[in-house]
Amino acid sequence: MAHRTLIRGATVILPEGAARTSVLLEGGTIAGVGVPQGARVDEEVDATGRHLLPGVIDDQVHFRDPGLTHKEDLRTGSRACAAGGITSFLEMPNTVPQTTTVEALEAKLALARRRSVVNYGFYIGATTGNLDDLLRAGHPPWASRTPGIKIFIGSSTGEMLVDDQEVLEAIFAETTLPIAAHCEDETTVRANRTRLLARMDGKLAVEDHSRIRDRAAALTSTRRAVDLAIRHRRRFHLLHLSTAEEVELLVSLPDPDRGLVTAEACPHHLFLDESDYDRLGTLAQMNPSLKTAADRRALWRGLASGAIDILATDHAPHTLAEKGAPYPESPSGVPAVEVFLPLMLNEVGQGRFTLVELVRWMCEGPARIWEIARKGRIEEGYDADLVLVDMSLVREVRNEEQLTKCGWSPWHGTVLQGWPVRSWVGGETVFGEGVVADEPHGREIVFARSR
Ligand code: DOR
Repeated sequence: MAHRTLIRGATVILPEGAARTSVLLEGGTIAGVGVPQGARVDEEVDATGRHLLPGVIDDQVHFRDPGLTHKEDLRTGSRACAAGGITSFLEMPNTVPQTTTVEALEAKLALARRRSVVNYGFYIGATTGNLDDLLRAGHPPWASRTPGIKIFIGSSTGEMLVDDQEVLEAIFAETTLPIAAHCEDETTVRANRTRLLARMDGKLAVEDHSRIRDRAAALTSTRRAVDLAIRHRRRFHLLHLSTAEEVELLVSLPDPDRGLVTAEACPHHLFLDESDYDRLGTLAQMNPSLKTAADRRALWRGLASGAIDILATDHAPHTLAEKGAPYPESPSGVPAVEVFLPLMLNEVGQGRFTLVELVRWMCEGPARIWEIARKGRIEEGYDADLVLVDMSLVREVRNEEQLTKCGWSPWHGTVLQGWPVRSWVGGETVFGEGVVADEPHGREIVFARSR
């Protein structure tokens, strides 16, 4: 008989709102909400004073496995997720080898089966020459085994740039899976770099990263991608918005087109801006680059208004030694899976938004966008992926406590109130009382294709 766990006493964040009720897990499934006293259970968890949320679904992580495992691997990345309340992740294709064939996808899924503590899914990456693979990935059995196609319409870590208009037109016209894109216009970036190099006599500083990858680069590329999605009537997701103008572009879309395009924001673009280069140096270097405080405020407003649908980390670990190289040899990217939920819980504690909104942006929203079956809600029949949080717990983010293999955080030294205290994946505890599981409890995420 399946193990039955009763979580009682918590304030549970349900789709219809917060309620003080109990939740019964049976095996890997939520068997009931509001279970009467006296039900037969194997384990009872007293969660009085805590809040129970669906496990967070992070749709943008870079776990570097295979090939770049000195930075992170599926075990360390997924353990960091478990401690951070993230019970499912979708991982990006810029590994070595790149995930650009269904064979590479299968190999990554097999690695995750052996290593991942939380649930996993992997994008298939576009190249200038893999249209056949992208088409194959859109058919059974692959269509339900990958969230979609990732296109770097702007170069970043790894050589995955797809900038050619003809290739992009073909991908948007012929493939069938949802598409997600990194948007920074390569022509603008190169011209900015050349101009700055000439002006600075070849000597660039990390602050120049935001001048090279400037707001025009982000907007031009986002506009181009949105135009492709609308003309080809394709489901399209904009990764990591960084400027006010991109939010305005989304707001300006007429209704039927707006339904095709979804968007996300990341904690680094919400909490950090160009002024942080002084303090953080290349630790604040990422793509898209940090912009201004006004952009940060516009992203927050975009979230509140619904123009931005979800939050994601873009967890992109590099070692401190790599980050310590002088700009521009230093790589772009910051880790975030452990601090993602605490950063947002801290905002909830300060009254900026509610836990119901947080769940919409971090759990329900990603499940809806990527058509993930049975996840993102606390509801009977859904998977028992849950996170219990203590809204009064105060802790400081410390580099030496990070589980990510890279061992640092741009939020080192930041004191946050509101932390996960226990996480369940498929009904199994993967984090609790400071202990993080090491066994591969994660399951392959199933994508319920409806379109
Ligand atoms: O800063 C970034 N780093 N942005 C990306 O899009 C990729 C990532 C990485 O893989 O390092």
